[in-house]
Amino acid sequence: MRTALAVAALTLLPAAASAQAHVGAIGQDLLEASGDVIYNAACANCHGVDGRGAAPELLAFEEELPDFTDCDFAAREPDADWIAVAHEGGPVRGFSEMMPAFRGALTVDQLGRVMEHIRTMCTDDNWPRGELNLPRALLTEKAYPEDEWVVEAAAHTDDSEAFTGTYVYERRFGPRSQVEITIPYGWRDEVGSDADDAARDGGGSGLGDVSIGLKHAFYHDIDAGWIFSVMGEMSLPTGNEAAGLGAPGSVAEVFLLAGQILPGDAFLQAQAGVEAPLYRDGSSELFGRFLVGASRTEGPWGRTWSPMVELQVARHMASGAVASVDLVPQVQVALNTRQHVLANFGVLVPVGAGEDSGRSVVLLAYVLLDWFDGGFLEGW
Ligand code: HEC
Repeated sequence: MRTALAVAALTLLPAAASAQAHVGAIGQDLLEASGDVIYNAACANCHGVDGRGAAPELLAFEEELPDFTDCDFAAREPDADWIAVAHEGGPVRGFSEMMPAFRGALTVDQLGRVMEHIRTMCTDDNWPRGELNLPRALLTEKAYPEDEWVVEAAAHTDDSEAFTGTYVYERRFGPRSQVEITIPYGWRDEVGSDADDAARDGGGSGLGDVSIGLKHAFYHDIDAGWIFSVMGEMSLPTGNEAAGLGAPGSVAEVFLLAGQILPGDAFLQAQAGVEAPLYRDGSSELFGRFLVGASRTEGPWGRTWSPMVELQVARHMASGAVASVDLVPQVQVALNTRQHVLANFGVLVPVGAGEDSGRSVVLLAYVLLDWFDGGFLEGW
């Protein structure tokens, strides 16, 4: 019995020459079939009719099978990635070759129907779909709750030659919430023309203002392609104010986040809110960030590149204050095969100097790990 089933699973492997015709025949017969019929014929031997994975003793390999009924796992994976894995085989996204390639047997259209069936296995649609997890920009916070760590770098091109490295840790909890901790570390050169300035800003390095935030996606709809979230953040005066690495006190921020999928793998994202210093003489600031971008892959299944441009506007609430406006062209690229290690490079260009006319160009970059999908060294 065991052997029979293991063999049944293996005869479906399109990689096995003798099975090729057999699999091809299945695909032909199922040209018009619905997703569940194709799934049961082509996938269920290994993945189980219920999607939880066939019992290990029935399988001829050691690899652990994913659980398609686990919404925490399944909802966050976009269809496009799963179709790529089913069409090209596990290795196309850095998974095991025990996940066979069905390209000789099933069309992308048939696989699309299979995905519709797999999507019925997670029965809780409280979990926002991975398609709504749009590429992370350099400044605009994402609306999607994420499990990520990010190392960001900002290099100022003015006299301060300030450089900031920021570590961001994000962790989801529940279907729609996320906690975020941000730890900046700064280096700056001497600035200032008089002796006082030089003494005060004598250059140096140190911790910046650490912040902690909470995000909640209060509305998402995969059919409309929308996601909306609200986020609150509190930054603490842990930075060295004298060295220009921190504010004199705590600062609270509240903002709304939105993401919208557009046709042609394009997207919009927005963030708007207020930053309110909780110390005397601090002035509140309104800010908005808006970006448009698009994702392109190298060939049908390859590496994803996402060029984007962000517009950032900020204005102090003091009367007579003038808004500052920045443009940030940038490109995000997947670094590894699994596409869960990504980098982004861009440049912040002040276009409307506003009150703070001394602002200069800032080079920005990050490296990101979506740690739910695997460790940093996995899937290359
Ligand atoms: C011969 C057994 C086998 C068959 C048949 C099979 N799979 Fe898989 N599949 C696997 C294994 C093993 C993995 C796990 C690979 C890993 O984690 O490295 C996997 C992983 C996957 C994943 C990746 C999930 C993730 O982690 O993101 C998807 C999607 C998938 N299979 C879809 C399908 C579809 C659709 C079919 C049918 C058209 C199918 N599989 C048929 C063995 C199989």
